Amino acid sequence: MTDVSTTDAALDQPQQPALDDATSDPTPAGVDDPGPAGSDDTAPAGRGGRDSLTVTDNRTGQTYELEITDGTIRAADLKQISAEGLGLATYDPGFVNTASCRSAVTYIDGDAGILEYRGYPIEQLAEHSTFLEVAYLLLNGELPTEAELEEWVHQITIHTFLHENVKQLMQGYRYDAHPMGMLMSSVSALSTFYPDAVKIADVDNRQLQITRLIAKMPTLGAFAFRHAQGKPYVYPDNRLSYVENFLAMLFKMSEPTYSADPRLVKALDILLILHADHEQNCSTNAVRSVGSSQVDPYSAVAAGIGALYGPLHGGANEAVLKMLRRIGSVDQIPAFIEGVKAGKEKLMGFGHRVYKNFDPRATIIKKACDDVFEVTGVNPLLEIAQELERIALEDEYFVKRKLYPNVDFYSGLIYEALQFPPEMFTVLFAIGRTPGWLAQWAELVQDKEQKIARPKQIYTGHRSRDFVPMSDR
Ligand code: ACO
Repeated sequence: MTDVSTTDAALDQPQQPALDDATSDPTPAGVDDPGPAGSDDTAPAGRGGRDSLTVTDNRTGQTYELEITDGTIRAADLKQISAEGLGLATYDPGFVNTASCRSAVTYIDGDAGILEYRGYPIEQLAEHSTFLEVAYLLLNGELPTEAELEEWVHQITIHTFLHENVKQLMQGYRYDAHPMGMLMSSVSALSTFYPDAVKIADVDNRQLQITRLIAKMPTLGAFAFRHAQGKPYVYPDNRLSYVENFLAMLFKMSEPTYSADPRLVKALDILLILHADHEQNCSTNAVRSVGSSQVDPYSAVAAGIGALYGPLHGGANEAVLKMLRRIGSVDQIPAFIEGVKAGKEKLMGFGHRVYKNFDPRATIIKKACDDVFEVTGVNPLLEIAQELERIALEDEYFVKRKLYPNVDFYSGLIYEALQFPPEMFTVLFAIGRTPGWLAQWAELVQDKEQKIARPKQIYTGHRSRDFVPMSDR
């Protein structure tokens, strides 16, 4: 086990131990046990009695038999299929039909609208669990016992503080810096505060960094939020729960203790649960891809935050709000839809790479919307969103392409009702996704089959040209 106090004393001010590590007894939560991966021997044999694919290369007339395992063939097996010395490869921009890993964390059946974390349906987790319990589940593969949960929550709670230099780093940003940019760079900066994080093969060390990052994400997000408002940063109050503490760091002013409406706390907790993991999405793939170089987890997660920032991924809910505001009123919707169909723009918050029926998270969020609006009053953009959804779901363009509302279509409305500006929406997504990124990262680190991510390319440029002197160009 890593000595926690030693680890954090190695910061740039060695005499001052970091504030967050008030204990030297972090209980590892056993990330080493990701549970069973896909199994070879349960796959039924095909009609021909063999789990294999026979391929004939019409260029050479030669036939090859490729093994099928878990519904996949090994791309490397195609290398043997060659003509003129060049082995066959697959071309798959955006990985639309390529498995990059075996994972036991999250299961999705996009056609049936099923999402399960470690086998537990998202609907049951949203109803009965809490975000930190779900984080434990994702990381450890099993729901915690009462004692395990208590210890896990305790460990998270005592790691919420940031080193003062991180605060100073954040204060250095321009007044209008986007909070996602601040979050991404401050998470990456944490790798310099915890240099021991490079010891990724050490299970205790991994667990310590995982705990730290999940604990510190709300503090970083809240500091980024306060920065944009020119308000003093609010330090964590470790008497509060994870979500209450986050809300306090965001919104507390001069009152001695900030208290949030429990219905809003619950709604935000549910939103974090819904975002906690989503198997090999763009940002998780970024975490795995960068993590495959065996860099520390802060750097890998910073890459994931960068991927999430984009409007086609986590930035979509910010884009949805801007779109709804631009549409302005229900009578403008038909003209807007015509523009989408003409390819002028996308209907943000619609469509998903995996869900082609409905996004189960969107269904839960719609219900959470009602609970939040009961406290805050109805967001006037809700009417436009509902009408937009109704029209789009009946329109042949969207029906034919199986485009349905995704998690981001309604989440922005809730976030706005909770008084978050649109720039903060993706930060909330990132806080929720952190346990998933880290569970996937821990799985990657322990997966003996994994290699450094290094796709092939189809080269389309010039070859072997002689350098042209400047005077001849
Ligand atoms: N509005 C209008 N048309 C769309 C939309 C949309 N939101 N999404 C897809 N289409 C169309 C495409 O133009 C394409 O049409 P075509 O066949 O005539 O060319 C067809 O539907 C298929 O779309 P692809 O882009 O091939 O689907 P892909 O799986 O690559 O993309 C994505 C999925 C990126 C989510 C896409 O649907 C999109 O851009 N949606 C809007 C952004 C969004 O809401 N992102 C959030 C995703 S959820 C998340 O990250 C948490």
